[in-house]
Amino acid sequence: MTTTTLIPNPAINNRSRDVKTAEIADQTWVFRSRTWDRLKFEIEYARQRGTTANSYLIRGDKTALIDPPGESFTEIYLEEIRQYILLHRLDYLILSHVNPNRIVTLKALLAETHQITILCSKAAVNTLKNALPDAQILGIRTDEILDLGQGHQLSFINVPTPRWPDGICTFDQKTQILYSDKFFSVHLCSDDIWDKNWKELDADRRYYFDCLHAVQSKTVETALDKIKEFPAQYYAPAHGPIIRYSLSRLAHDYRYWCQEQKTRPLQVALLYASAYGNTATLARSIERGLLENDLAVESINCEFATPTEISQAIENCDGFIIGSPTLAGHAPTQIQTALGIVLSTAAKTKLAGVFGSYGWSGEAVDLIETKLKDANYRLGFESLRVRFSPTESSLQAGYSAGETFAQTLKKTKKLRVPQQGMTETQIDRTAQAVGRIVGSLSVLTTRQGEDHAGFLTSWVSQASFNPPGLIIAVADEQAADRLINSRTAFTLNILKEGRNLRRHFSNCIKSGSDVFTELETQVGENGCLILSESLAYLECTVKERQLCGDRWLVYATVERGQVLDGNGVTAIGHRKSGSQY
Ligand SMILES: Cc1cc2nc3c(=O)[nH]c(=O)nc-3n(C[C@H](O)[C@H](O)[C@H](O)COP(=O)(O)O)c2cc1C
Repeated sequence: MTTTTLIPNPAINNRSRDVKTAEIADQTWVFRSRTWDRLKFEIEYARQRGTTANSYLIRGDKTALIDPPGESFTEIYLEEIRQYILLHRLDYLILSHVNPNRIVTLKALLAETHQITILCSKAAVNTLKNALPDAQILGIRTDEILDLGQGHQLSFINVPTPRWPDGICTFDQKTQILYSDKFFSVHLCSDDIWDKNWKELDADRRYYFDCLHAVQSKTVETALDKIKEFPAQYYAPAHGPIIRYSLSRLAHDYRYWCQEQKTRPLQVALLYASAYGNTATLARSIERGLLENDLAVESINCEFATPTEISQAIENCDGFIIGSPTLAGHAPTQIQTALGIVLSTAAKTKLAGVFGSYGWSGEAVDLIETKLKDANYRLGFESLRVRFSPTESSLQAGYSAGETFAQTLKKTKKLRVPQQGMTETQIDRTAQAVGRIVGSLSVLTTRQGEDHAGFLTSWVSQASFNPPGLIIAVADEQAADRLINSRTAFTLNILKEGRNLRRHFSNCIKSGSDVFTELETQVGENGCLILSESLAYLECTVKERQLCGDRWLVYATVERGQVLDGNGVTAIGHRKSGSQY
C-alpha cells in the first residue's frame, strides 16, 4: 500500500477549471473537464494533483455521449460540447455508473435534447428513474449491440464492484476503444491527452489502485477477465490520460496488484450497507486505516452481495467489520442477513468491529454490537457512531479505528506458540508457502452401525491409477478411529463451487441424526451417505494407514464413483496459511 503522501502537481499554477477537447479516433472526441485543485470528492485521495473528468462523443449515423461530468463543470462543459454537436440531435447518453454529482449536468443536458435515450446498467435504472422521472431510460443488455452506424457498434460489459455496483464498460468495434470508466483511471491533471509519458504515471496509477480498487480486488479481477475478451487498442478511462502506449503493461499491473492483495498475511472482511452514502464514506476511511497497516481488505456492499459471497468472505477472513445505518430503528435487511451469516459461521477467534451512520437514535450499531458481544466475539475498536454525514474529524476517527483494528489483529496472531527451531517470521513464511497447496474440498462420510458421521477435508490426493486409489491425511479429532481398519468403507463427497454444503460440516467429525437432517442424502452401496448436492462421490475402502507427523495417512482404493453434476466446478480449499485448515 502506498502511504498517504501529498505530492502537489507542479503543473498547478492557480489555473482555473476548463474543458479541453480532442479528436482521439474516427468520429470520436474526448472532452476533458479539468480541475487543478485538490480532490474533494474522493475522501481517501490525499494527493493534490487535480484530475480530469473525461466524457466522450461518438458520431455515426446516430450519436452517443458517454459520461458527462459533475456539477462543477455543467456550464463550461455544455458550452464546449455545443461546438461539436447540436444537442437536440443527440440520440444516446451512456452512463458507466450513476453518480449523484452528475444529476445536475444530466438535467441541463436533457433540457436541450429531444429524443435522447439514457443507457445504463440494469442496477442503475431505478436510481436514475427517481432522479430523472421524465427521462427515457434503458437498462443495457450485455448480449445486445448498439449500432450507431458507420461501423460504430457498441458492446457493453457489466463490471459491478462494491463501490460501483452499477458499473459498465463500453467497447466500440470500429475504433477498438474500450471506455473503461474507473478502471485504469488516474487522478492527475495535465495537458497530456495520451499516456505517452506513461512511466511518469506509475506512482499515480498505483496510488489510484490502492485507494479505490485494492479493497475490491476480487471483483476487479472478474472485471479484467471480462474486459480481456475485447480486442481493445485503447482504454478510455473516466480520469486522466487515454491509454494507448502502456495498455498491456497497465492491464498486467492491475492483475499483479490484485494478486498482491492475496499475499497479505491478514485479511479483513468489511461488510456494509449504506442507503445514502454516509456509512459507505465512513467505510472508506476505515479501509484506509486497515490498508495502510498492511492488511488485505475485502469490502462487501451487502446490498449487492449474495449470501454465498458473504459466507466465503467470512470464512476466509481473520477479522470482520460490519457497518450499518439506522433506518426506522433497525439495521437494513441486508445487514441483518449478513449478521445472521456471521453469527452462524464465523469462528469466535475472529476479531470483530462495528460502525455506522445514524440520525437520532442509532439503534443499528448498538444492536449489532450487542449480538456480537453476546456471541463472545472480541471487538477490535470501540464501536464508531457518526451522526449523518461524516466530518473531517469523524473520518479521522474511522482511519484510527482501522489502524487500531489492524494492530490488535496483528498482536492476536503473534500469540501463537513458535515451533521448535524456527523464528516467528520463518514460521509465518513457511506456513504461508505451505498454505498455497490446495486440495478439493470434500465431505468424508463414514458409518458405524446406524451412526452416520461426516467431516470436511481438503487433504486428499489421488495416489494410484490401478487400482484407482487416494490418500487422505486425517487428524485424531477427525475420524482417525473410524478409518483404522483395512476394509473400512467410507465415501468421499467432492463438493461443488457455489454451494453452501461446507457450512454444515467442520474439520472435526460430526455424527448423530441431526447432522444430515437438513441435507438431501442417499445411502450408497457401501452403506455410507452420499450428499446429493455434491459434484461427485467416490465409495472407497481403506487399505493401509500410517502415522506421519501429527496425521494419519490413509491409503484407500476407490470401489465405485459417479459425477452428480456434469457442469459443476470442484470447490477448492484455499488457505492463507499452512498452519491451520
Ligand atoms: C427513512 C429513514 C429512516 C431513518 N430512521 C432512523 C432511525 O430510526 N434512527 C436514526 O438514528 N436515524 C434514522 N435515519 C437517519 C439515517 O440513519 C441517517 O440519515 C444516516 O446517515 C443514513 O446512513 P447512510 O447514508 O449510510 O444510509 C433515518 C433516515 C431515513 C431516510
